[in-house]
Amino acid sequence: MSDFDAISSSRTLHRLIYASRQRIAPGDLDNALGEIIRASIARNREVGLTGLLLVHDGWFVQALEGAAEAVMTTYRRILDDPRHDDLKLLSAGPADAREFGDWNMCARRLSAADDAILDALAQREAFRPATLSGAGALRLLKAVRGIQHRTTLDAIV
Ligand SMILES: Cc1cc2nc3c(=O)[nH]c(=O)nc-3n(C[C@H](O)[C@H](O)[C@H](O)COP(=O)(O)O)c2cc1C
Repeated sequence: MSDFDAISSSRTLHRLIYASRQRIAPGDLDNALGEIIRASIARNREVGLTGLLLVHDGWFVQALEGAAEAVMTTYRRILDDPRHDDLKLLSAGPADAREFGDWNMCARRLSAADDAILDALAQREAFRPATLSGAGALRLLKAVRGIQHRTTLDAIV
């Protein structure tokens, strides 16, 4: 790889999507999510990352997008976080444009009214995001992106 390739690839927009199991006591979820989102917004803003965190049925599904180095450095930190485990990388690579550019990080939870989203992805009977393809995971997060009713957590974003 030439120096030019190395520089341009570190500046190219990258997107990474993973799924993980929450390891947070149910009664602590709201507080823990508040802390995660507050820290994420502050740190992601510093390094130009944007993204979306879906919180559903004991799972996290998160998209991170930005320069490759920022995405990978942040993902490595997230990997070590004891508030989740069983991280499964669903997709990572260059992207044409930001899909979640409105937020340095935003958490969304699904309600019963959002079942249509899960239906479309055959994830309603049992939510198993770790089985999604990279394209399926991106479709899921893009559908979630459009949800208009915001949770109280979103209010701090
Ligand atoms: C599901 C989940 C998503 C997270 N997303 C981010 C994120 O997008 N950006 C970030 O900086 N930290 C994120 N974190 C938090 C990091 O793991 C870490 O706690 C935080 O960056 C503070 O790191 P520090 O204690 O080294 O400053 C996330 C944690 C979890 C459990």
